[in-house]
Amino acid sequence: MFVTASGTAVGKTFVAAAFARALTAAGKSVAVVKPVISGFAWETAADSDTAVLLKSIGREPTRDAIVAASPWRFEAPLAPDMAARREGRSLDFDALVRFCRDAQRGDGDLLLIEGVGGVMVTLDDRHTVLDWIAALSEPAPDPAPALIVVGSYLGAISHALTAVAAVEARGITIAGVVVDESEASTVPLADTVATLKRFLPGLPLATVRRDADAEAVLTALKPVLGA
Ligand SMILES: Nc1ncnc2c1ncn2[C@@H]1O[C@H](COP(=O)(O)OP(=O)(O)O)[C@@H](O)[C@H]1O
Ligand SMILES: [Mg+2]
Repeated sequence: MFVTASGTAVGKTFVAAAFARALTAAGKSVAVVKPVISGFAWETAADSDTAVLLKSIGREPTRDAIVAASPWRFEAPLAPDMAARREGRSLDFDALVRFCRDAQRGDGDLLLIEGVGGVMVTLDDRHTVLDWIAALSEPAPDPAPALIVVGSYLGAISHALTAVAAVEARGITIAGVVVDESEASTVPLADTVATLKRFLPGLPLATVRRDADAEAVLTALKPVLGA
């Protein structure tokens, strides 16, 4: 499953880690990768998305484990193409797709791929995250349905519907939409969810509250899993 979002800092890591933690506790074999990470520094690696994800499946976030789960690490907290350019580098899109394809060939119960930023953040001069998801969504060998995390802040509805429209326009299968309650939102969570339900009929919708624990996130995600 490819975990993407309507924007940055919306809750991809929070939702993915809670989900992975609960499934791991239930005895499932879950793998996690965060192939592209910007704003990364070794001094703060213990708090990185990669470390959070590794810990959620009971793995030590050692240097080797972080390098293996996040081969494309950039220091600047910018879109990957900009962050890479700052370092005189560029992200090799084909290598990124190959890396994920290899991860998909693992034999666990579930692979979670956390994207970067929102659905159309730029990866290099030509590709956005949408191209990345599309490349992994082709029938063979294993399609990666998108899980789209959105917020509940004022403005989140437009961001959510725009993200869904962009993903659908590429023919990518959407596993579901997760409304992750935004901090100090002025908009009631239930109203946001009700509105999204009306505008996204037929798409599984999950609600995750502030500080939800892993079990609560797993329960919320059940409809998304088709369970
Ligand atoms: N439901 C939630 N309850 C409490 N904190 C949350 C929740 N969702 C996200 N956060 C926190 O908000 C911040 C941004 O979320 P994060 O998952 O890192 O976003 P993203 O991965 O999309 O950039 C993190 O500090 C995260 O722990
Ligand atoms: Mg994240």
